[in-house]
Amino acid sequence: MADMNKTTALWQNPIYRCHDLPTLPDPEVGKILVTGATGYIGGRLVPELLARGYQVRVMVRAESPEIYEQWPDADVVVADALNRDSLYLALEGISVAYYLIHSLLMGPKDFAASEISAAKNFRIVAESKNLKRIVYLGGLGDIHRGGLSPHLQSRIMVARELQKGLVPVTILRAAIIIGSGSASYEIILGLVKKLHFLPVPRWAETQCQPIAIRDVIKYLVGVLEVNDTVNCSFDIGGTDVVSYKQMIIILADLLNRRMILIPFFYSNIKLYSYLASLITPVPAAITLALMEGLRNEVCCGHDAISRFLPIKRLGYREAIVLAMTREEQDNIYTRWSNAYPPAHELSLKLSEIKDAPTCTTRYSLSTEKSAASLFQSISMIGGKDGWFANNWMWRLRGVIDRLLMGVGTSRGRRSYLRIYVNDVIGFWRIEDLQLNMRLLLRAEMKLPGKAWLEFKIEEEGSKGILSVTPYYHTHTLAGKIYWFIFLPFHEILFNDLIKQIEVRSH
Ligand SMILES: NC(=O)c1ccc[n+]([C@@H]2O[C@H](COP(=O)([O-])OP(=O)(O)OC[C@H]3O[C@@H](n4cnc5c(N)ncnc54)[C@H](OP(=O)(O)O)[C@@H]3O)[C@@H](O)[C@H]2O)c1
Repeated sequence: MADMNKTTALWQNPIYRCHDLPTLPDPEVGKILVTGATGYIGGRLVPELLARGYQVRVMVRAESPEIYEQWPDADVVVADALNRDSLYLALEGISVAYYLIHSLLMGPKDFAASEISAAKNFRIVAESKNLKRIVYLGGLGDIHRGGLSPHLQSRIMVARELQKGLVPVTILRAAIIIGSGSASYEIILGLVKKLHFLPVPRWAETQCQPIAIRDVIKYLVGVLEVNDTVNCSFDIGGTDVVSYKQMIIILADLLNRRMILIPFFYSNIKLYSYLASLITPVPAAITLALMEGLRNEVCCGHDAISRFLPIKRLGYREAIVLAMTREEQDNIYTRWSNAYPPAHELSLKLSEIKDAPTCTTRYSLSTEKSAASLFQSISMIGGKDGWFANNWMWRLRGVIDRLLMGVGTSRGRRSYLRIYVNDVIGFWRIEDLQLNMRLLLRAEMKLPGKAWLEFKIEEEGSKGILSVTPYYHTHTLAGKIYWFIFLPFHEILFNDLIKQIEVRSH
């Protein structure tokens, strides 16, 4: 049973999005599983449920200390929906599950099929564990009209797959969600911030009903607390229906940016999405999946949800203002760039490589600075100036990566104050972090091989040794040529990097 009394005051605190929900925490709900907890929506839902006193288990595919640190009151289980056996443990003792699994980063070839097998596995195991309910957040769009994008179609097919079982499903269907860290919002923001002229094809006039992230979270929590929403499907949207073109104009207006929109006859979405991935921090796999949906009108067909949850929703403009405020506070819980499918080949860990990495060199210096100050200085790498004098070389490599449809360096960092395992730093991701000893970064840029960068602080007599070691693993000729071409640049880059890190530490 949920521990409601202890936390009564907590959920009423206005820092929680659900403090003004018309419903009350329901002590009969039982244990809740949040899948996709590392994702954009899941990461925002968990703290709200915990604040309302619910017993929450979060399901992640890769365990990391950050998860425990972020939600010490939640129970953590490691499971992959594509591996049915792992779900039995995850769903043991669970009463209600939020299904927020999404695999866009798998790329267009794999995502639709893997979404369906994940949903099927989940449905079967949920049924065997006698769950009371599954709550699923999917996408708006009318499958009967035809021409629905593969991404929107897949969202509907997942809903249908979940509904095939005996466990009742509550479905919420949303269009673009506006909030800091949301991929769709970052695409629009990136375009508005970087461009003065924007070619506007006809599909930019398509109508859409965006919704603020806080309203989505309210609905997700609210349906849990209204029993009559079991077995129902609801369209959820904000108060405004706008075209994509209007969305850009409004955002430019709020940012005081002068933008000239030029009607353009050429309408190939693949090309526009590729260009958007070069200009914005969102990788091509995601821009393509999302932008293919721009031809489809995504507005609410009905407002049945208001009968059960009469909440005061936000309009597009207010949602943007809130997104910008949160961003300025550097208070982003989760964002698309934090999620990367561990099943993806890029997430292979250095320690998981069978044979030793093919190429490696070590650059080091001896220092009298303390391990703590050196580590603090290492932790500040990345971002705008974080690569020191040779910043331009890293940025150039980032631009090349974007041209190759990689992630580039514009993902920046989640926070300049702290780093965690799995955080993104430009085209790197933190694979291991041992305070004052080691920071291991895994490359997510396009490479003819796999690469890591390891910073280490070791003691040698009365002095310390600060080192950086690039590891590179390849079995192809192209990979080896790549390594030897870049070796002279490594010499300059890495020697300078550790020197500057040492100088910056106190
Ligand atoms: N964000 C939006 O603008 C938006 C708009 C409308 C609807 N929605 C819907 O909201 C739902 C959640 O979306 P989101 O934006 O939060 O997605 P997201 O940020 O991409 O997160 C997806 C989550 O799914 C997890 N996941 C992927 N494959 C998995 C698997 N095989 N087993 C277990 N977990 C797996 C990921 O875990 P890892 O960290 O391990 O990769 C991640 O936590 C989706 O159904 C989406 O269609 C989102």
